[in-house]
Amino acid sequence: MTVSNQTDHDYIEGEDDDHSSNPSTNISFSEVADKSISRRAFLSGGTALTAMGAVGTVAGGSLFAKDALAAASADPSTLTFDALPHAYDETHHVANGYDADILIRWGDPVVSGAPAFDPQNQTVEAQKLQFGYNNDFLGFAPLPRGANTANHGLLCVNHEYVNRKLMFPGDAGKDQNTQSKEQIGIEMAAHGHSVVEIKRDDAGNWSVVNGSQFNRRIHTETEMMISGPAAGHDRMKTSADASGTKVLGTLNNCAGSITPWGTVLIAEENFHGYFAGDPSKTSEAINYKRYGLKGKPRYGWHRFHDRFDVEKEPNEPNRFGWMVELDPYDPTSTPIKRTALGRFKHEGAHALVNKDGRVVVYSGDDQRFDYLYRFVSKNKIEPMNQEANRNILDDGTLYVAKFNADQSLEWMPLEFGKGPLIPANGFNSQADVMIETRRAADLMWATPMDRPEDVEPNLVNGKVYMMLTNNTKRKAGDENAANPRAKNKHGHIIEMTPPGGKMGADKDHTALTYKWDFFLLAGNPTNAEDKAVYHARTDEGQWLSCPDNCTFDTKGRIWIATDGAPKSGIADGVWAADTEGKGKAYVKLFFSTPLGAEHCGPCFNTDDSAYFAAVQHPGDTKGSTFENPSTRWPDFVENQPVKPAVMVITKVAGGPIG
Ligand code: FEO
Ligand code: CA
Ligand code: CA
Ligand code: CA
Repeated sequence: MTVSNQTDHDYIEGEDDDHSSNPSTNISFSEVADKSISRRAFLSGGTALTAMGAVGTVAGGSLFAKDALAAASADPSTLTFDALPHAYDETHHVANGYDADILIRWGDPVVSGAPAFDPQNQTVEAQKLQFGYNNDFLGFAPLPRGANTANHGLLCVNHEYVNRKLMFPGDAGKDQNTQSKEQIGIEMAAHGHSVVEIKRDDAGNWSVVNGSQFNRRIHTETEMMISGPAAGHDRMKTSADASGTKVLGTLNNCAGSITPWGTVLIAEENFHGYFAGDPSKTSEAINYKRYGLKGKPRYGWHRFHDRFDVEKEPNEPNRFGWMVELDPYDPTSTPIKRTALGRFKHEGAHALVNKDGRVVVYSGDDQRFDYLYRFVSKNKIEPMNQEANRNILDDGTLYVAKFNADQSLEWMPLEFGKGPLIPANGFNSQADVMIETRRAADLMWATPMDRPEDVEPNLVNGKVYMMLTNNTKRKAGDENAANPRAKNKHGHIIEMTPPGGKMGADKDHTALTYKWDFFLLAGNPTNAEDKAVYHARTDEGQWLSCPDNCTFDTKGRIWIATDGAPKSGIADGVWAADTEGKGKAYVKLFFSTPLGAEHCGPCFNTDDSAYFAAVQHPGDTKGSTFENPSTRWPDFVENQPVKPAVMVITKVAGGPIG
């Protein structure tokens, strides 16, 4: 096997456009004022600590002012494992004292009747019953519904995209224009979502319940409903669906979450990459331009399916880019695209029940210079009435975020008829505002961010954390208070604090103004050029790059999964850190992924005794192919291709992780 540390992905997220599709600069007067301060501070300070000190805002000094003291003292973290050293090789690594086992991999049988995987003879029908490709989001939904079970549940898994060079033997893996209809069908069936019943036995081993009645595959031809403000609008209608309320399938399902009411939110992220045809020849030219549709798809689906050609089916792209809600406990349920949550390249979405009973959903738009959004429901959750809650995400207000230099965060509503969201600007209804969420947000002067990936509330302290993965296209002079580094190669994490009491449950996630701060600025803290900011003890051996997703354990500690660290010579993986106290932002590497892979779907069961880890695009390195992959992870069997897989990590001695 050739071991290469070069990542040459077919598909590197956020880098498939030469430029962001956001044409607006959206720098407000206050940001211009701040930009000059932070830029001056960076230039004169030389190091991030000085720069941040000069701005005088980061972490109120609690993290960084005592750096000399902290560096000399004992390990301040509440995390008890010894951090893994950086590594980047053919296999995964986990901290000492923990086991990491394969739970399920691409091609494994999921639905009753699924055949065993035969990589040389793949079929559409088999793939529709087997585990899909490139597992991303993982959610643990305890069984039975409504219980708090730790050892039995439904693992809900997104399958984001496919990589033909690693999936198919021979020429089929090389060119989307020569693939057969069957191969295109396999790609479409390998996308989407899996619901898989899993169980822990008395010996502590986790396994999949084969053929469980709950097991289900959702893919690109699964029937779905469209609800909310855009449902039924003319711009949502196609020749196959005159109602504008029914759609086949979901695409590019990146992150997601389990809602407090037990459904799954599945994100549709880079939907633009599936559509051929010249968007400028459609009535949706301006709309499609803003979403990066260029008629240069990454897949050959349009060759056999007209709906993926905008010149033949001009409205079909309007039916993607939404959040999909699925009831995993009912295998006959129809997934629903909730258009009130807006249309953009949703990384994911996280819902919580606010203290007043309304539902709040946070969601990032993963593109360079795009925005952070928040939805607040009109109605309140009725704890004893599931039926009343069923459509709670259909009615409410979507807001976009503006980060001010004084560390305040303003939520600006995207409501038809208010401010610039009027017919003169091409908005004739709330449906238009939702279909063109990005353009509406541009007009509200939202703050252009460095690729908002996962945005997740920490229910213990009530703060909300946003992963900003990187943005190497931000030019010197275009920095703003919340995105302070030009050519931001390593990304950063912002901590947002809603008003209210100290406890998580006392915060008001419906407030129009929050406070914000940096949690960390990633990169190598010993390399001055990186201008990284962490806990002062973080050293050459323990830094991270490109935060992408996060989760929180029951103690409220953050677990940060990365996508893109190999570009800096280290593996992607998950780093854990305290979010409060003396160990705040002192990151420790817990698990790292093999060559070419990123780590997605960080997920705990209900008592932290199991951590589920998605290993996505393993072996996706330069020159790696189906026949000669750079690693044959996870099974290391000759004649088996490298496979994306989900691992379950447990403590050898048992008990909670971390
Ligand atoms: Fe699919 Fe933005 O990560
Ligand atoms: Ca992601
Ligand atoms: Ca998450
Ligand atoms: Ca990513």
